[in-house]
Amino acid sequence: MARLVTGDETEEDTFETSIRPDSIDEYIGQAELKENLNIFMKAAKMRKEALDHVLLYGPPGLGKTTMAYIIANEMGTNIKTTSGPAIEKSGDLAAVLSTLEPGDVLFIDEIHRIPRFIEEILYSAMEDFKLDIIVGSDSSSRNITIDLPPFTLVGATTRAGDLTGPLRDRFGIVSKLNFYTEDELKDIVLRTSRVLKSPIAEDAAYELAKRSRGTPRIANRLFKRVRDFALVMGDGNIDLDITKTALDRLKVDAFGLDATDYNLLNSIIEKFNGGPVGIDALASSIGEEASTIEDVYEPYLLQNGFLKRTSRGRMVTEKAYRYLNNGKQDSLF
Ligand SMILES: Nc1ncnc2c1ncn2[C@@H]1O[C@H](COP(=O)(O)OP(=O)(O)OP(=O)(O)O)[C@@H](O)[C@H]1O
Ligand SMILES: [Mg+2]
Repeated sequence: MARLVTGDETEEDTFETSIRPDSIDEYIGQAELKENLNIFMKAAKMRKEALDHVLLYGPPGLGKTTMAYIIANEMGTNIKTTSGPAIEKSGDLAAVLSTLEPGDVLFIDEIHRIPRFIEEILYSAMEDFKLDIIVGSDSSSRNITIDLPPFTLVGATTRAGDLTGPLRDRFGIVSKLNFYTEDELKDIVLRTSRVLKSPIAEDAAYELAKRSRGTPRIANRLFKRVRDFALVMGDGNIDLDITKTALDRLKVDAFGLDATDYNLLNSIIEKFNGGPVGIDALASSIGEEASTIEDVYEPYLLQNGFLKRTSRGRMVTEKAYRYLNNGKQDSLF
């Protein structure tokens, strides 16, 4: 079964588009980002200019793509979207840049995966709204410069550290998205329940929030599953009882940790004496990619003090030992 509490996008998340907030007022949490963006957007509108380029970074599922769409909505412009892996040749970038109209938002997801040599074309596009490309083949190639309309590049990445300095410096607005609080997640669940017209009790929404690893995508996904349980096993009402039953059956524990998290923590304890252990050794011991551990699993474990990073590698904390020793994992897995 695919991992339920991963912040990563999965196929069934197509339902996400239907529950995405489309104005900044409906976007819950990330107060600082919202306040700043509101000011910058207002100023850009007053000056009748395109908004400065925006870089959003943070773990998967925290609302980067959602915010990119909201920016275009609020600015009253079109949004064109592409992603780092989709841009393989300079022509791919030129093709999307040449469709832009004044003020448009160009959203580049996973921007850290753009090849280096293409990044350089982006520099002048971002800075001077000029596209410098080489056309023609070897013998008759020449440089041409095409003027672009002013536009706003919104870049999203789970790994800001992988961006080169020059690229990062060309974003006027750089913002890290943080994990959401339980209250914010509860509000997100309540909002989703209104949009989907499936009422949920407030305490049940809070229970979902607590187990969602600070991540809206996970909260929404769990909500959907719990709704199924309520329909099939209960009378359709999503109350606290059915929510707890459903989440236990889905093997999502009270902290939102699942089998992969247990595996990761237990593996450090059992195979590496509690750590420190290097990321590559850890990755191969649990059969995951190092980058997946870094981007998806560990940010939440670090933030919540189950794991710590030292110069010599990852170590489990006292808290993790205590938590795992409570026998919880035996009853769950
Ligand atoms: N602040 C928010 N308020 C309400 N819903 C939100 C918020 N942020 C995210 N969501 C919901 O969570 C889902 C995931 O958000 P989104 O796709 O924007 O995440 P992301 O950061 O782009 O993830 P990835 O890194 O995987 O691309 C969306 O469908 C949206 O409904
Ligand atoms: Mg996204």
